[in-house]
Amino acid sequence: MKITSAKTAQPQSGDKLGFGKIFTEHMFLMDYTEGQGWHDARIVPFQNLSLSPSCAVFHYGQEIFEGMKAYRNGDKVYLFRPDMNAKRSNLSADRLVIPPIPEEDYVQAVKALVDIDRDWIPTDPGTSLYVRPFIIGTQPYLGVAPSSSYLFIIILSPSGAYYEQGLAPVAIWIEDEFVRAVRGGMGFTKAGGNYAVSLKAQVKAHDDGYSQVLWLDGIERKYIEEVGAMNIFFKINGTVVTPALQGSILPGITRDSVLTLCREMGCPVEERRISVEELLDAARSGALEECFGTGTAAVISPVGKLRFKEEVMVIGGGKIGELSQKLYDQITGIQCGVLPDTHGWRVEV
Ligand code: PLP
Ligand code: COI
Repeated sequence: MKITSAKTAQPQSGDKLGFGKIFTEHMFLMDYTEGQGWHDARIVPFQNLSLSPSCAVFHYGQEIFEGMKAYRNGDKVYLFRPDMNAKRSNLSADRLVIPPIPEEDYVQAVKALVDIDRDWIPTDPGTSLYVRPFIIGTQPYLGVAPSSSYLFIIILSPSGAYYEQGLAPVAIWIEDEFVRAVRGGMGFTKAGGNYAVSLKAQVKAHDDGYSQVLWLDGIERKYIEEVGAMNIFFKINGTVVTPALQGSILPGITRDSVLTLCREMGCPVEERRISVEELLDAARSGALEECFGTGTAAVISPVGKLRFKEEVMVIGGGKIGELSQKLYDQITGIQCGVLPDTHGWRVEV
């Protein structure tokens, strides 16, 4: 794949980065046209898009996205398992009838863009360059049908912690009214629609002082699924438990990495169904030792408080647990090139 580009380097310094608020100077674009396939890969100055108001994405939400990060250590710049993002993007694409992008082209595009804007990668602890690739249906047509044209875009955002609290434990609301996804739907994809449907519950949770929503399964409303922007883990009586992937939750790349690290540490790990009742019982009896979320943006995010209906569970005295801290140190150490990468997860840019 040949990528044309316009290079300048004017990094913006940001003392309080937050998450996803600042964007670098460049973006990547590639078009898809029926009959021609993906073409015209290019890097251009970050700019607004010009699209017909009749485009498929605006009406029927034919959109998917990914999230990964670039980390800087001295002169070295690393991505973390970008091949997994490329694979997952194609999984999402398949569900939303979007044409796939060859994995090597996807990763090449990310690397090329990150390389051009590498001076924008922040270096303070806990900061990184958030990479947001996404694909939108661009055909100007109001009929409900797969778009015949698409745009693949990548933008970059120097970012700090996803939650305002940083590594301090967050409070999570277990949602009992609204649902996010059902098996057979698109819960396993990173489609914008999965996030649009979550906003109502998220606003309700925020209004009550909770950072995010923990979803229950959409059918029995009994089993734990995942949080708005992360997978969820519990440590119960020394065993690490996380919901199994059954089609309605995102197969998180951090989740997969954490499972591998836990197994290597000799921690018993279970991927299975876990009911909210089991969780409440574990919390009441003191068997629930730790709870944390995992995600690219959220990294390892300790959960200090869970609320279900009228019951509030405080976990680990509201402090970060030993395992959560250990996993955070290990995963960020591997990502930033401080710890050895025994799994080949790090990809140099
Ligand atoms: N679940 C949801 C709904 C997410 O948005 C994310 C974030 O990407 C995750 C889980 C975690 O996935 P990953 O670890 O691949 O970032
Ligand atoms: C990520 O962690 O990359 C995500 O996509 C979460 C996001 C919805 C902010």
